[in-house]
Amino acid sequence: MDAGFQDNKVPHKPKIFNNCKSFIEGWYWVIPCNDLGIGEVKPITLLGRKLVIYRGQDKQVVICDAYCPHMGAHLGEGTVEGNELRCALHHWKFNAIGVCVEIPCLEQPLPLKLKTWPTVEKYGLIWIWTGETPQQPLPFVPELEFQEYESFLGSQLVMNCHPHIMMLSAIDTQYFQRVPALDIGFEKQELNPNAIIFSKYRRQNHDLLIKKIFRPLYKNPIYSLCYWYGSTFTLTVGTDLRRCYFMFAARLNEKEQVEIQTIFLTKKRKGFSGWLSTRFMLWLSNSVMQELLNKDVKVLQNMQFNLKTPIKVDQSIMQLINHVERQKPLTWKTWLLARSPDTEIKENQTKWRDELTND
Ligand code: FES
Repeated sequence: MDAGFQDNKVPHKPKIFNNCKSFIEGWYWVIPCNDLGIGEVKPITLLGRKLVIYRGQDKQVVICDAYCPHMGAHLGEGTVEGNELRCALHHWKFNAIGVCVEIPCLEQPLPLKLKTWPTVEKYGLIWIWTGETPQQPLPFVPELEFQEYESFLGSQLVMNCHPHIMMLSAIDTQYFQRVPALDIGFEKQELNPNAIIFSKYRRQNHDLLIKKIFRPLYKNPIYSLCYWYGSTFTLTVGTDLRRCYFMFAARLNEKEQVEIQTIFLTKKRKGFSGWLSTRFMLWLSNSVMQELLNKDVKVLQNMQFNLKTPIKVDQSIMQLINHVERQKPLTWKTWLLARSPDTEIKENQTKWRDELTND
C-alpha cells in the first residue's frame, strides 16, 4: 500500500480540470472541410459562443462572430459575395478579416470591424484558435512531425462526460491493466506549454533469447499519447514494425458532453504496394479503434470525478491535471480570460498538489 500517498489530504481542488464553465485557449475542431462548400455560410455554436462560418470564392474559410455590428442581425442569414459576407438585414458587407467594406446607404463604409478568428484546415477538418493569435501549433502526432503522412476522418461520437475525464482514462493504469503496480506507469514529457506526452515502453527481459531477438522492434514506445489543449489527444499503438496512429479531436458541447471526431493517420507510402499497405493499416487502425471504443466507457459516463485518495500509480493522472491547470483558461461562451492577468501569472507558477506528483 502506498501509505504516503493515501494519508495525504487534497489541499486544493483543480480549478480548470473537469470544469464545464471554462476551457483552455487553443485549437478546436469545428466541422469537416467537406461540410462547407464554396459560397456557403453556416451558423455554428462552439464552446458556448455563437459564430458564423463561410467559404469564399478563393476557397478560404472565414469564422466570425455571429451578430452584425450594426444592429445585431445573425450573419448566418447573410450571403457570401466573392470572399466577403453581406448581412441579410441592411446589407452591410464585411471582408475576410472582418473589415466593413460597404454600407449601401452611405458613400463610405464606417471604420468598424467584425470579430474574426484564426482558422486552419487540416486532417479533413476546419479548426479554430480561440484567442487572438495562435501561440502553439495545431495538434499533431509527435512521431509523425517530420514525416509525410496521410489522414482519414473516422466516426464522430458523443460521450456523457467532460473531455478531461475521457482523456485521463487513456493513462489510468489501474483501469487499463490489472498487473502489479510496480510494473506499470508512464514516462512524461512536456512538448510545449499546451502539449504533454505520456509514453509506455515494453519491459525488457534480458534472460529470454526470444526477447533479445525481438528487442529491435521495441525501441520506441509501444503506447504513447500526446494531449493538446486539454481536449484533443493523439495515440500511437504498436511495435516499430507496425504502428497505428490516431487523433481524438474533442470539445465540450452545450449539454456538457464531449463530442469527438476520430482521425486515422498513416505514413505515406508509394506505389501500389504502398496503397495496399495504407489500406491494411486503415483496416488495422479501425479494428484497434473499435476495440478502444468498446471498452467499458459506461463507468466514465456515470462517474463524479473526485480524486480524494491518490496512490502512486495515479501519478500520471495527477501530472495530466497539473498540466491542464497550468494552461490559460477562457470562460465558456464569452471566451474571455477566466481569471485576472495577475492570477494568471501566479497560477502558472504554482501547481496543483505539487508534493504528490514530483512534477
Ligand atoms: S443589422 Fe446587419 S446591416 Fe444592419
